[in-house]
Amino acid sequence: APELTDEAFAALLADDGRVEPRDPMPEGYRRTLVRQIAQHAHSEIIGMQPEGNWISRAPSLRRKAILMAKVQDEAGHGLYLYAAAETLGVDRADLLDQLHTGRQKYSSIFNYPTLSWADVGAIGWLVDGAAIVNQVPLCRCSYGPYARAMVRVCKEESFHQRQGFEILHTLSHGTPAQKAMAQDAVDRYWWPSLMMFGPPDDDSPNSAQSMAWGIKRFSNDDLRQRFVDMTVPQAEVLGLTLPDPEIRWNEERGHYDFGTVDFTELFEVIKGNGPCNRDRMAHRVAAHEDGAWVREAADAYAAKQVARTEG
Ligand code: 3HC
Repeated sequence: APELTDEAFAALLADDGRVEPRDPMPEGYRRTLVRQIAQHAHSEIIGMQPEGNWISRAPSLRRKAILMAKVQDEAGHGLYLYAAAETLGVDRADLLDQLHTGRQKYSSIFNYPTLSWADVGAIGWLVDGAAIVNQVPLCRCSYGPYARAMVRVCKEESFHQRQGFEILHTLSHGTPAQKAMAQDAVDRYWWPSLMMFGPPDDDSPNSAQSMAWGIKRFSNDDLRQRFVDMTVPQAEVLGLTLPDPEIRWNEERGHYDFGTVDFTELFEVIKGNGPCNRDRMAHRVAAHEDGAWVREAADAYAAKQVARTEG
């Protein structure tokens, strides 16, 4: 690719230009995108485990069908994002190896257990709700393949969020035991969902550069605030309370005030000390090893195709 000066690149980004795979780009820009897109993909793949845990125990055929479709969507988002990462010259086998050996991360939220059926509702409503707040701005990311992947992902996420909301609405308007189950799930998933948006802006080493490169369009704290503002009214419709007594509308700010997120918990979970980190990785590595024969068969088939066309 022709040499690219930082000024030329800055000019391209300035008029909201899109960078495409064959365009010249600073190595740091490419590396930041590989880091973020790969970890985004890893999050989707690991994210299948908490919910997958309830497919065989869904309370009805309808709920089971919806949950299977959602978990399948997450797999698709992961493969979509690995394909976007590969446009930057990396190979998904190597990215998975980096995940399995702890050199690359996945979202903290998937290291929490799914203890009841209501957790499937709380994950859809809160986790996918947070994902939508985070992923909609990524549709305008400066890197073309990532932005375009996000357009489709966001459409499917809104279905994920709606089905989660509907599960919680059904439970919270059901028997007292069902309402208590829904409230317990929200109590356990609320704060970890706020942590999904990352560390506070004054402790976010990648934000400034990511924003300068048009990858991150809003700061971690801005998106966290947007998620709180969107979710508080929905909790009222659900008839469920959020486990933060400091939540109150601040007319002056035009936002909801809320309590302090315990970022030490986020950093502990990122370090590997969350409730389910070891299980999630063991399950992932085992699935990868169990699937080796499929990859070998696909490689053998591809080699035969090549031999046939060249033969
Ligand atoms: N879990 C794990 N690691 C996290 C994290 C979290 N919740 N929040 C931050 N981190 C990591 C970052 O990856 C970074 O580490 P690294 O340099 O080794 O990658 C470090 O903590 C410092 O954080 P920064 O704020 O400086 O990092 P970023 O600028 O990359 O911001 C981010 C973090 C907001 C997660 C950003 O990477 C992002 O927007 N990623 C794309 C969206 C994404 O990955 N979402 C994860 C959930 S996927 C999902 O929800 C799917 C849905 O279907 C449920």
